Amino acid sequence: MTAREAAVAVAHPNIALVKYWGKRDEHLVLPFTDSLSLTLDVFPTTTTVRLDPDAAADHVVMDGAPARGEVLSRATTFLDLVRERAGRRERALVDTRNTVPVGAGLASSASGFAALTLAAAHAYGLPGDAGELSRLARRGSGSAARSLFGGFVVWHAGDPGAPDPDRASYAEPVTDARLDAALVAVVLEPGPKPVSSREAMRRTVATSPLYPDWVTDSRADLARLRRALREGDMATVGETAERNALAMHATMEAARPAVRYRTGASDAVLGHVRRLREEGVGAWATMDAGPNVKVLCASADAERVADRMREATEARVVVARSGPAAGLRQVTA
Ligand code: PMV
Repeated sequence: MTAREAAVAVAHPNIALVKYWGKRDEHLVLPFTDSLSLTLDVFPTTTTVRLDPDAAADHVVMDGAPARGEVLSRATTFLDLVRERAGRRERALVDTRNTVPVGAGLASSASGFAALTLAAAHAYGLPGDAGELSRLARRGSGSAARSLFGGFVVWHAGDPGAPDPDRASYAEPVTDARLDAALVAVVLEPGPKPVSSREAMRRTVATSPLYPDWVTDSRADLARLRRALREGDMATVGETAERNALAMHATMEAARPAVRYRTGASDAVLGHVRRLREEGVGAWATMDAGPNVKVLCASADAERVADRMREATEARVVVARSGPAAGLRQVTA
């Protein structure tokens, strides 16, 4: 890749069906477990990176406002890594536009860092294949490693005993999945979350008595889910994903102090999903680091599931299906 000095990239969020929860290495962002997600076709993030040889510092604009504090420092730390690898010094102007509510468990950090990775790597002329880009995105936000690819994606934790553990932990598409699935997002509270996923993971790993069992169970969930995807077995995919998500929330609720993202409204939606199943509709819930519930179902059932969620709640309901890999766009002046 040659240096273009400016690049624009678009990436979509992903929702994990087998979750990433807990780092074995905070600095390199190496997880304890493999995870598997579906990239969505909604809520893209578009990010422009322009090198500015005259600037003394990076300037980051998010959704029209200058980024400060934690958001700015995470972006700058990430750009430092890109510059170090590219052997360049120029600071950058970053303009990023989300279409998803930030910080509400709908994975804006995944689409955000995936788009930043692709745009920055291109602007700084950093060479690398898809695996290399996913390793880089991982350093910004773990789940971003998966948003570089479309459809179902697996992120390998990597063998802790590998000579270079950083190389061993990357994401790649699941090429043998035979399932047309949808995720119906029930957006309950678009406000910021009480505890960052970073802090919640740290607390869970350090203090939750349930965490070691979750790590063991997660391996079995991943094997079951991969088999079910290959066989196009929606019910096993759904049951495994719901169980895995509820178990993840149980680990953090058992941490000290407890982390609780589920609200009364989330629990009500979980009840609606269970009732749908009792009526014979294949629908299963998953939740991330926020109160929102995503309902997993066959693509053919998505509108019916969404209508039921609209009837049962006041929430905004968005139907998402399998989305594309992150991609570059034309740079405009
Ligand atoms: O990538 P992070 O640090 O925002 O962590 C995301 C963790 C979950 O969304 C809760 C699970 C996952 O695998 O995406």
